[in-house]
Parts: sequence; C-alpha cells; structure tokens
Amino acid sequence: MKRIYAKGKSILDEGVNCGKTSGLPKIISIKGLRKSFDGNEVLKGIDLEIDEGEVVSVIGPSGSGKSTLARCMCRLEKIDGGTVTLSGVEITSGVHDNGDIARLVGMIFQQFNLYPHLTVLRNITLSPVHVLGIPPGEAREQARELLAQVGLEDKADARPGQLSGGQQQRVAIARALAMKPRIMLFDEPTSALDPELVGEVLEVMARLARSGMTMMVITHEMGFAREVSDRVVFMDDGNIVESSAPAELLANPSQARTRQFLQRLLAGPGKAGSGVSAYGF
Ligand SMILES: Nc1ncnc2c1ncn2[C@@H]1O[C@H](COP(=O)(O)OP(=O)(O)OP(=O)(O)O)[C@@H](O)[C@H]1O
Ligand SMILES: [Mg+2]
Repeated sequence: MKRIYAKGKSILDEGVNCGKTSGLPKIISIKGLRKSFDGNEVLKGIDLEIDEGEVVSVIGPSGSGKSTLARCMCRLEKIDGGTVTLSGVEITSGVHDNGDIARLVGMIFQQFNLYPHLTVLRNITLSPVHVLGIPPGEAREQARELLAQVGLEDKADARPGQLSGGQQQRVAIARALAMKPRIMLFDEPTSALDPELVGEVLEVMARLARSGMTMMVITHEMGFAREVSDRVVFMDDGNIVESSAPAELLANPSQARTRQFLQRLLAGPGKAGSGVSAYGF
C-alpha cells in the first residue's frame, strides 16, 4: 500500500487503474531490446514487463543505458532489435504515427523543454488541440484543472521563464498529462533542480503514482524509489541486473554489482547525492 502524501482530493487521486492486474497482459512489455550507437551496444537485450498501475524505479550507474531505454520506449530512438509493446500496441513495428505514441506514453526529462515564448496555459493546450483535436475551450479547461492538481492554478498566464525550476517541471508534468497517456516515463525529473525544489516535484509524482498511473521513473532519489515504487530495477552496462521490491533490492540486493552501486551511492556526494531525498523520505 502506498503512503498518502498529499492532502485533499484531486483528479490525480481518482485514477481508474488503482488495482494491479497481474495475470492480464502487461501494459509495458519489452522483449530483447537492443540499441547501439556507432557499434557501441548500450542496450544488450532488455526484457522488462510492467503491470498496469505499477510504479517502477530504474536505478543504475551513469552510462548504463537508463535514458536510452526510456527514449526507445517512446520511440525517440530507433532500435536495433527486439520489441516494445505498450498497452498492446507494438510501437516498434513502425506502423504507428507520433500521435499514436503520444496517446500512449508521456515523458518527462531532466530539462523541462517548455516553449519559452508561450504562456503556461498554451504550453499545456498545444498538443491536445493540435494532435488530439480537442476543442480549444475544452483543452483550456482541462489545462486549468491539471494546473490546479500540480499546485499552479495561479500561473496559467505566466511564461516559463517567470517560474522556478520546480514550477516549470510541474508544468511539464501537467503538459504530459494533458495528452491523457496510459504510461508516464520520468528521466531524472529532479536532477536539474535546486535541492529545496526537489520535494514539490516528487510530491506531485507520488500523487500521480497513488492515482494508479503506470510509471517508470529513472531516479537517484532513493527515498522516492523506496517509498513510492512497487519495484526497483537495477541496470548496469546495458543489462537489467536485478529487479525486485524496493525493500528487498535496496536493503538486501542479490547481485554484487547492485551492492557495489548502492554502497557507492550511500558513501558520498556527487550526482547520486547521499541517497536520501530532499523529499524527506
Ligand atoms: N546519441 C548518442 N550517441 C552516441 N552515444 C550515445 C548516445 N546516447 C547515449 N549514448 C551512449 O550510450 C550509453 C548509455 O547512455 P544513457 O544516456 O542511456 O545512460 P544513462 O544510464 O542514462 O546515464 P546517466 O545516469 O548519466 O544519465 C553511454 O555510453 C552514452 O555515451
Ligand atoms: Mg540518463
């Protein structure tokens, strides 16, 4: 049972996919995924299945292929072998357009990638109107609702440059949710933020997790991985080394490579920090 972090009720709390669906087809099914850059194989046959409503944190050293995996899952990279099937749609078959992919999966990056010249509201309504064909009035109404959910209802008319990093990342999350994706991928969503802004973004993500959204989160926030995820996956050198419940993998990993990584993470500063999240988990 996930902890409840946020006060009050929201549409993020009312997801329909709260129950796990083991036994049913997986919402994410990756088989034998291979990807090379200039002859350098960075994904060496990844197999990964994720249940609907499951929250999976992906951890691993720099260069292990975490971002490449996420990018292949929303077709930002062309793959060299294997398949990625999302909600029964094999996105790697080449027959689906970008709109199809956008309906299935939303991705949040370390950099927020908001359009600087557009207001927050326009940033959020752009794709729903132009890709999904939602009437502008309806898209604006939905955008205001989503902004309220991420605590930014008063920022609809601001430009991204007028917002803090944490606020911009929350807008990016609202923008992704406006496409009503089945799956959300996060690639180190808090790594570019000042430490004091990390918590507000993790809070929004924790609420989204609680709503039943299927999420894959690449993170160095071990507190988030431990408290919010259903499962933690450890990647190293283009492979999934180990995958299990957070308490098991983080406290008692079965593989030596996982142990080494976690020991280094806890040992010192650097990118991975102390392993204790600013969220205060
Ligand atoms: N566009 C690219 N061209 C060439 N090599 C790339 C490209 N993108 C990634 N790589 C290489 O693929 C490997 C995996 O990179 P990736 O970004 O997936 O790692 P990561 O696990 O996300 O690392 P980090 O924790 O630093 O973000 C690295 O060796 C990287 O240099
Ligand atoms: Mg990365």
